[in-house]
Amino acid sequence: MSKKITFDFWKHLYADRVENMYSSEIRDLLSLSVRPDIISFAGGNPEVRSLNLSKLEKYIKRSLMVEGSTSLQYGSSEGYYPFKTRLIDVMRLEKIEVDEEDIIVTTGGQQALDLLAKIFINTGDYVMVEAPSYAGAVNSFKSYQPNIVGVEVDEKGIKVNIAEERLKELARKGIQVKFIYVVPNFSNPSGVTLSLERRKKILKLAKKYNTVIIEDNPYGMLRYEGSPIPCIKELDAAEDDMNVIYMSTLSKLLAPGFRIGWIVAPHLIIQKLTLGVQAADLCTSTFSQRIAFEYFSDPGWIDNIKSFINIYSERRDAMLETLAETFPPGCSWSQPKGGFFIWLKLPEYLNSKELLADAIRGKVAYIPGTGFYADGRGKNEARLAFCSESPENIRKGIKILSTIIKEKIRLYKSFK
Ligand SMILES: Cc1ncc(COP(=O)(O)O)c(C=O)c1O
Repeated sequence: MSKKITFDFWKHLYADRVENMYSSEIRDLLSLSVRPDIISFAGGNPEVRSLNLSKLEKYIKRSLMVEGSTSLQYGSSEGYYPFKTRLIDVMRLEKIEVDEEDIIVTTGGQQALDLLAKIFINTGDYVMVEAPSYAGAVNSFKSYQPNIVGVEVDEKGIKVNIAEERLKELARKGIQVKFIYVVPNFSNPSGVTLSLERRKKILKLAKKYNTVIIEDNPYGMLRYEGSPIPCIKELDAAEDDMNVIYMSTLSKLLAPGFRIGWIVAPHLIIQKLTLGVQAADLCTSTFSQRIAFEYFSDPGWIDNIKSFINIYSERRDAMLETLAETFPPGCSWSQPKGGFFIWLKLPEYLNSKELLADAIRGKVAYIPGTGFYADGRGKNEARLAFCSESPENIRKGIKILSTIIKEKIRLYKSFK
């Protein structure tokens, strides 16, 4: 057995960027979500158990027995061409029209974020994100040592008037914002959807300040009510198609185990990203892409989306109903129309990180809000994921949280 060395002898050797590499609180807390005794509202784990495994087995067999010489081989760094044609079909359902050459396939959405950060961010650059924002993105950006400008979010998404003020302020100082990162549909972590009006406005801002929007859309197809809002990419395509880099992932449409994501961008940007893929992992797993090609070649895949929607919408309803029934005055939460997450705000005097200890003792987990801000905000906020637990467990878990919060409020008030 190797001995456990606790003193970091190699500190003088690490690159400066290691100082800016953080373990996401989400990933740390994910270890809790696998404990069977814990009701976990922590991880955004999709319900992969609902997939038709015998169909998947058929696709895997075909990838191996018929197309093995391709599936088991290195592939193109831009992605496996036949699979890209299927991605075009998938995106068309969200009214995004692109050519194969505008797409690069990545090892999950997470690698897409890292590659985009790698090609755009120099140390000390400025990037704009939602506050709160997807922690995996912010952590990925941080390792390239930028200044992160977090712009507050309300029930209509990122506050574009504040984004405008910040962009103006920075431009006055001669600072170029490298990109604006948004998750416009049922955002991770806030659950809110960017309104059409604000989509148009943020696109206008990107054009005015000569920057790009990274539109990250893993949840757009998981809508449980209302009508879809055009993607910012679609709005941009109606103009000059220069200011939006669109990205998504199969993690929520199929399964995260495949580790497939993709980016749509103008060809010159795709070329830079291709160099990034060549340096990072040569190509995304050809085997995964071939299986995914089989999966999306069967029109039945859309039924899986329908069954995901049924499962998640029932869970969302269970969480929203129980929050409304049991949570005390002074607490508020977002009303997501899709996706995986509800954003919870507690009274200002409560600290969601401190409460987590009691919650875990009560066998419930969630992610405290500070993990989703780049600047320490979010102390009285939390992300509740409703995607992974049964409606019964959700009701039980929310009731437990409510009892804990009520007790804390009672204690606080008794000392005032
Ligand atoms: C907004 C957002 N972007 C990117 C990712 C990364 O996804 P992937 O599993 O494809 O790496 C996630 C995962 O939860 C996400 O929520």
